Amino acid sequence: MASLDLVNVKKSFGAVHVLHDISIALEDGEFLVLVGPSGCGKSTLMNIIAGLEEPSGGTVNLMGRDITDVPTADRNISMVFQSYALYPNMTVAKNIEFPLEMRKVDKAQRQERVRSVAKLLQIEHLLDRRPRQLSGGQRQRVAIGRALAREPQLYLFDEPLSNLDAQLRVDMRTEIKKLHQRLKATIVYVTHDQIEAMTLASRIAVMKAGVLQQLGTPHEIYNRPANTFVAGFMGSPRMNLLKAQLVRDGQDLALRFGEKGVQMALSAAAVSPALAAYAGREVIAGIRPEAVSLCGPGMAPGPLQCAFEARVEVIEPTGADTLVLVDLGGHEFTVRLDPDLSLTPGQQLRFLVDLGKLVCFDPQSEALIAAA
Ligand SMILES: Nc1ncnc2c1ncn2[C@@H]1O[C@H](COP(=O)(O)OP(=O)(O)OP(=O)(O)O)[C@@H](O)[C@H]1O
Ligand SMILES: [Mg+2]
Repeated sequence: MASLDLVNVKKSFGAVHVLHDISIALEDGEFLVLVGPSGCGKSTLMNIIAGLEEPSGGTVNLMGRDITDVPTADRNISMVFQSYALYPNMTVAKNIEFPLEMRKVDKAQRQERVRSVAKLLQIEHLLDRRPRQLSGGQRQRVAIGRALAREPQLYLFDEPLSNLDAQLRVDMRTEIKKLHQRLKATIVYVTHDQIEAMTLASRIAVMKAGVLQQLGTPHEIYNRPANTFVAGFMGSPRMNLLKAQLVRDGQDLALRFGEKGVQMALSAAAVSPALAAYAGREVIAGIRPEAVSLCGPGMAPGPLQCAFEARVEVIEPTGADTLVLVDLGGHEFTVRLDPDLSLTPGQQLRFLVDLGKLVCFDPQSEALIAAA
């Protein structure tokens, strides 16, 4: 049974349409991560699921029941807000305990729940304080604790880790993942953090200006983005998206970039029928920085590889790997290379592209043509 089923959910604030026909069906136990630029409607959608905003159209169903008109308090949903929304006059312990008290959980059990989430979130020493005596990150953990103390049918998390420092954030990410594996709860989670989205999600929903662009597993979103927006949004550094001419090269096809006409030969195996139909036309070629490697002396491209030459412009070591900006026929192109290579700006190098990772888009609609 679909646990959460959103059907054509719309929202307008006056004349401004903030959400356009959002339909998402989640299986029980799924972890959905919502991503998209600031202002695209993520929090509005969360508020509609929670019952804090009324949709202008469409329905919200939870465990097979239409809850569109059910008051928030009767929805059996726990939410962590972007703004925490703690009760200022209650201690931390009371903040966590209060929703349980409202649900008439007995006292011993309440105290046990408070103790266990406080331990999990490392806030045991803060239980007697009030929210104003806490840092932003501590408040955020209390808000998470309050949501976790209950065991609802659905958890909603709106950027729950945004105020934590880098280390705590990574730790909490792992804790949330473990928690999900243990509770098998259905979760909808909003984040701006790409790694959080990729590591936590069973599926990712990418939104832009109130329109759902793609709903898919992290692997699908990353490897077969539905359009150039999704391709450019997910992944850091960004996928290289370059206009190219799909030209005939003997029996095969090749991508030709820029005025200088740098070419990448495509083996027949790398060209789907859908892409072949673009022969003689322009496409947008998408190549992730890690789909490129250095072609050492004497190395020749394999059957699903092609080689190209480019000049090194900028070298950015990040520690784990080195990002190299090269000039590809007059276009900037980012390549992720081994950090131990010694490179210098101005160097002319030969690269190999993994054609199994090439994706091409229609230049007008910007939709995926086919992953070659
Ligand atoms: N009560 C409201 N009245 C009018 N416009 C609103 C209201 N609430 C939100 N909006 C508008 O709706 C759009 C979506 O807002 P929302 O808060 O859902 O975005 P978001 O994706 O959560 O952004 P962020 O990543 O910055 O949190 C924005 O343009 C916002 O200005
Ligand atoms: Mg928001």
